Amino acid sequence: AAVEKGNYRHFMQKEIYEQPTVVAQTLASYLRRSDNSVALPQMDFDLSAVRRLTIVACGTSFYAGMVAKYWFEQFARVPVDIDVASEFRYREPVLEEGGLALFISQSGETADTLAALRHCKAHGQTIAVVVNVPTSSMAREADLLLPTHAGPEIGVASTKAFTCQLAVLAALAAHMAVKKGRLTREQEAEIVHHLLEAPAALNAALDHDDDIAAMAHLVAPARDVLYLGRGQDYPLALEGALKLKEISYIHAEGYAAGEMKHGPIALIDDAVPVVVIAPSGPLFEKTVSNMEEVRARGGQVVLISDAKGLEEAGEGCIATIEMPVVHPLIAPLVYAIPVQLLAYHVAVVKGTDVDQPRNLAKSVTVE
Ligand code: G6P
Repeated sequence: AAVEKGNYRHFMQKEIYEQPTVVAQTLASYLRRSDNSVALPQMDFDLSAVRRLTIVACGTSFYAGMVAKYWFEQFARVPVDIDVASEFRYREPVLEEGGLALFISQSGETADTLAALRHCKAHGQTIAVVVNVPTSSMAREADLLLPTHAGPEIGVASTKAFTCQLAVLAALAAHMAVKKGRLTREQEAEIVHHLLEAPAALNAALDHDDDIAAMAHLVAPARDVLYLGRGQDYPLALEGALKLKEISYIHAEGYAAGEMKHGPIALIDDAVPVVVIAPSGPLFEKTVSNMEEVRARGGQVVLISDAKGLEEAGEGCIATIEMPVVHPLIAPLVYAIPVQLLAYHVAVVKGTDVDQPRNLAKSVTVE
């Protein structure tokens, strides 16, 4: 049956709103509530033997991989090598016999990612895939298939597939850490507990949709927009910028907050909105000081943070977006919502074709 928009104006909007449900569905197939443990599909591969992980993907799926790098390194202490698929194959990557390579893709058909998968297979790697289309080429060619249960994604700009990918990747990272003896049963249970809080937190994030719609007109006239984040929220800055350029055609750049002074700060003036993604926590003060550098040059800051962060640093911003207070592990899932909604509402203000942006394809099956 054809997928319908229902009461939503666009598929993208509908898919943004589906996230609490589809993330819950995805988590349900990887987490056991009875004892708060991670349960992965049966595999012949010994995860405890992984000494290095290679992650390859494109577009939004690549940014999910970037977030996951922090988790694999933090929890499992496994070094992660990550690259976009179009670069990966041609740089002669060093692949040790018996290694694990992980591919992330909504469609499971992206030509560059599929070619990278085959390259890794030919070089003795075990192939794990996180895909949303279970009948896709990548799903068929995988040794370890880790499906996301986002349902069909119609909007060209990926939204719900991204948060579902993050859910699977967090479960995989935790599981690998358990297998490697890096997490106790108690720590595993705690991680699972926090992951299971994600759907409610995503709902709480969606409650701020009206505020985001109301401030979209501040961003819509801009020619350039800068997104800043640190640590695991840095990939969110990249994703925010990608979403905005994909559907609103405004030039946007995502940058690591601390790296801004090595270049993009030269662009700052009162015509450049700077979206700062900064949940309160250990890195917050550092990001705030980068934000001050922006403001001192007339930059117009939009701060996305929680109540604590906004109380500390919200003053003087042209707009703030409040997120619920969440455990750092699920912050990338929760903060995906405001960056998606901001891009969406800016595109609506500009009157672009949100679901079918010019020059872009849902699935890029040519190199
Ligand atoms: C295209 C889509 C993006 C997507 C990317 C990777 O560029 O427009 O939304 O993130 O391909 O696609 P995949 O299906 O491999 O995740």
